[in-house]
Amino acid sequence: MAAPASPSLLQRAQDFVSEHRRAVLIATAAAVVAAGGVAYYASTSRQPTRRRDVEKGEKKDRKKSKKKSSPKPSKGPIIEERTPKAEEAELEVEKLTAEEIASKSEKERTDIANTFKQKGNDAYRNSKLSQAVDYYTKAIQISPNPEPTFYSNRAACYVSMSPPQHDKVIADCNEALRLDKFYIKALNRRGVAFEGLAQYQNALSDFTSATIFDKFQNQSTAAAVERVLKKLSTEKAAEIIKSRESRLPSYTFISAYFAAFRERPLPTLPENPSQGDQTLILALEALQAADYAHALSFVNEAFVQNLSTTQGEAEALNLRGTFKFLMGDVDGAKADLEESIKLAPGFTQSLVKIASVHMEQGDPQKAFQCFEDAIKSNPNDADIYYHRGQVLFIMNEYDDAAENYTKSSELDDTFVFSHIQLAVAQYKAGKIANSMATFRRTIKSFPNRSEPHNYYGELLLDQGRFEDAIEKFDKAIELEKSKAPPHPPNVLSLVNKGLATYQWKQDISAAEKCCDEALKIDPECEAAVATLAQLNLQQSRIEKAVEMFERQVDLARSEPELVNALTYQYASKSQLEFLQKYPEMAEQLSQIARAMA
Ligand SMILES: *[C@@H]1O[C@H](CO)[C@@H](O)[C@H](O)[C@H]1NC(C)=O
Ligand SMILES: *[C@@H]1O[C@H](CO)[C@@H](O)[C@H](O)[C@H]1NC(C)=O
Ligand SMILES: *[C@@H]1O[C@H](CO)[C@@H](O)[C@H](O)[C@H]1NC(C)=O
Ligand SMILES: *[C@@H]1O[C@H](CO)[C@@H](O)[C@H](O)[C@H]1NC(C)=O
Repeated sequence: MAAPASPSLLQRAQDFVSEHRRAVLIATAAAVVAAGGVAYYASTSRQPTRRRDVEKGEKKDRKKSKKKSSPKPSKGPIIEERTPKAEEAELEVEKLTAEEIASKSEKERTDIANTFKQKGNDAYRNSKLSQAVDYYTKAIQISPNPEPTFYSNRAACYVSMSPPQHDKVIADCNEALRLDKFYIKALNRRGVAFEGLAQYQNALSDFTSATIFDKFQNQSTAAAVERVLKKLSTEKAAEIIKSRESRLPSYTFISAYFAAFRERPLPTLPENPSQGDQTLILALEALQAADYAHALSFVNEAFVQNLSTTQGEAEALNLRGTFKFLMGDVDGAKADLEESIKLAPGFTQSLVKIASVHMEQGDPQKAFQCFEDAIKSNPNDADIYYHRGQVLFIMNEYDDAAENYTKSSELDDTFVFSHIQLAVAQYKAGKIANSMATFRRTIKSFPNRSEPHNYYGELLLDQGRFEDAIEKFDKAIELEKSKAPPHPPNVLSLVNKGLATYQWKQDISAAEKCCDEALKIDPECEAAVATLAQLNLQQSRIEKAVEMFERQVDLARSEPELVNALTYQYASKSQLEFLQKYPEMAEQLSQIARAMA
């Protein structure tokens, strides 16, 4: 509801990202490799140490696997049996005393340990978990060279206990992974334990390794990665929101929000205006001049200086509430806007803005009630129908939305966004010809506005008509550049052009140029940053991509945007970490990525 026309670039950039999420996650891996990570990691990391011993000890098991590739991730049933059944299975091992065992040869002790492992496996299968733990413990104590499976199987018992013994799972998996760092089951088990202890970063690291070893094919591990990423990002987002100072979002964002309301004349001053009354006028003038920082500080000052009329106070509350909403303080916004309506019942703009607050809180029913209330007191206010159209649009009710936009334009046909949104709703409802006609009509009626060109271009882009789309974006860019100060140009068309160029010709550097130019004009343009992050990933510039994701996190206004940006930041970082731990996997990883590209 904040943006004037809904298929905004930012939204599309995010759709692009989520549609390609898997590809992006894999591309990240490939990017790391191609970025020279191999050379760097190969020179700084130690060789895998224990691998050879383990392989020797498991020769028979290795034969079962036809794959020659090394290192080979360990596979197997829940409880692994990576050694052949001990020939002396019937041996009455439990009767042996410690002295007797100590006197046996290495070979004999190895066999006894394997028998205990077998007994452990049987006990596990019969759900006798603590008995199974005892058997595995014996196997570990007796064996001259305990196998990683002994630890991992014992960890499986701790996982299954209620409550699960996460600390013990982690200790055993640490040992199993020390013996065999490519042990997928142990990685998964330790990941589960870390997740159980809410150590999501560690869990992510283990699940990421496991999913790469599974060549991204294991659905349940992939789901674990996504699940932990979500928990991690959600937790971090809440933390950031709690601790960070509130501040205004980007110019592009604010101006899009205010553009969604028709301009109203300034309120008239009372006969003996107070200082506060005059400061409020300064705030509203600053708003008209698109000087949002001053508008905000003036309106706060007006409250300190006192406003002498209820109407003035209602106006001031409306403006302050709007800024609170823009800065992500949804509850504060609601309080101001509700107070504003108490002072001036039927104040349409406050009612309509409370509807946005309800939408942000996921309550469309209450939003619709606000529109009903607003219509009751002001049935001919064009803003109400436009904003009701926006809510209906978000809910995919395109026919009702189109009717409401049309009604809004009937009441006042000078508002360009009612026309644009009508065209977009028609397009979404599948009435392509109507939509195009509406756009052409709108361009004719608003020859000096960039927006009809921009959004027309977006629809053309959606249809794969790249050349036509870019022509429209160019026109929009030209119109924005000719805008008289103090209004800085809106840079969305620039970012759109970049995206179109990339989709059309895969011309990444031209696309980047557009985004860089957009950021020069509006350094806080989220769409440009989000697009640049993806373009960097595509080009294997992983460090730069991570940097862009971090910037995106800084710019993200709402919690969902923040969660989205954090998800990518963590996903790409965890793959960087993977290659630090497993530098020898670099080549294999790049093969996987190439095969899946
Ligand atoms: C996939 O991973 C899960 C653990 O996350 C494991 O239990 C399962 O056996 C794996 N599936 C395959 C086909 O490897
Ligand atoms: C504003 O009003 C409050 C009480 O209504 C009063 O305490 C305060 O002194 C006033 N401030 C100014 C600057 O007039
Ligand atoms: C606008 O939308 C509402 C649904 O919220 C619908 O009942 C109404 O018919 C639509 N059209 C107009 C002109 O209000
Ligand atoms: C559009 O702008 C041109 C020159 O900038 C001006 O002459 C013309 O009157 C404007 N048209 C409208 C409809 O505002």
